[in-house]
Amino acid sequence: MLKDKTIVIGVTGGIAAYKSVEVVSRLKKLGANVHVIMTEAATKFVQPLTFRSLSHNPVIVDMFAELQSWDVEHISLAEKADMFLVVPATANLIGKVANGIADDMLTTTIMATTAKVIFSPAMNVNMYQNSIVQKNIVRLKEEGYRFIEPDKGYLACGTEGKGRLPAPEEIVTSAIAYLLSSFDLVGKKVLVTAGGTQEDLDPVRYLGNRSSGKMGYALAKVAKARGAEVTLISAPTKLNKPSGVNIINVRTAAEMCQQVFKYQAEQDIIIMAAAVADYTPQSIAKNKIKKSNNLTLELKRTTDILAELGNSNGEQILVGFAAESDNLIENAQQKLKRKVVDFIVANNIRAEDTGFASDFNQVVIISKDDQIEVAKATKLEIADRIFSEVVKILD
Ligand code: CTP
Repeated sequence: MLKDKTIVIGVTGGIAAYKSVEVVSRLKKLGANVHVIMTEAATKFVQPLTFRSLSHNPVIVDMFAELQSWDVEHISLAEKADMFLVVPATANLIGKVANGIADDMLTTTIMATTAKVIFSPAMNVNMYQNSIVQKNIVRLKEEGYRFIEPDKGYLACGTEGKGRLPAPEEIVTSAIAYLLSSFDLVGKKVLVTAGGTQEDLDPVRYLGNRSSGKMGYALAKVAKARGAEVTLISAPTKLNKPSGVNIINVRTAAEMCQQVFKYQAEQDIIIMAAAVADYTPQSIAKNKIKKSNNLTLELKRTTDILAELGNSNGEQILVGFAAESDNLIENAQQKLKRKVVDFIVANNIRAEDTGFASDFNQVVIISKDDQIEVAKATKLEIADRIFSEVVKILD
């Protein structure tokens, strides 16, 4: 659980430092114990007080500051941390750690820790592509340090290219996925579907649903963090593309079905987290439907992708979801049998602050012989728990 985790955020002196404010705020809201260490240069961009207020912990900058009562605890941050997240990570900081230079509190603590360390670089495009910076990154990766790839886009220095810090939400989800992960899906192929499909009625309208895609994207990120090769078949969502994942965008249930069966054979695990439309219009109007008094739509059934997978005698471990408003366990157990799957993850759509657009969920993981109740937690934690159950039967 995140509330048992200590995350140290290292902030370095780049213009993107202001975005780390939101990273700290989000992690705190998700329940983590957050500490911040800033470099001297970072304090030129953001005041330590901002981080202190958001993290509810003292912020460390100066290695040689007078000891306060809380300092003893802070000196042990390297030991206490479950993860270090350096955001933004400048070329300077990356270069120092890659070459064993520890000349301030941040570099000293990073080098003294045995916790997971993840860097989120942000800098000018030419600086990022500079072969010295790239060699330093490779060197750190070889030593087991992780990186969140910068985005392409408009950079503060007025140029365009790769070097932009990803959105804070993206950084937080990638970091948590890494924090929670054990590296136990190496060599495995995982297919995840996500989002809500859209069924066209006419050239401008469609039938859709309220799925945000967050659960499916969390599953893809966790699978990636646990070392799997991940294919994410995504219906439209507003979410950022997870890095290092093969993403295939689809719109309709039929397109999703086609893509799932295209990739099925090579997978070890398939998780259907998408909200696939059960019905689609009998025909799509060529022209925009004009209004009249009442309109009756004729709908036909779509293919139940999960049931087809379950009945196809594939070798994969199959996981389905069941969004229920009543008789949660009973309905989910029926789906488990009817769709011939290994697990049904059942969630009650009436529960407060879970489901659809929320970052949280509360589920029961149902298998033939077991029912595991997972208390309310972030979707990344739920995803991690689902994979832990899957790994048990993989073994
Ligand atoms: N699913 C699917 N193909 C569909 C519809 C659903 O693969 N055409 C998958 C979903 O991705 C989910 C699971 O089936 O993993 C459960 O979907 P849900 O809509 O809750 O259940 P249904 O089987 O459609 O039953 P009902 O709508 O009656 O609850």
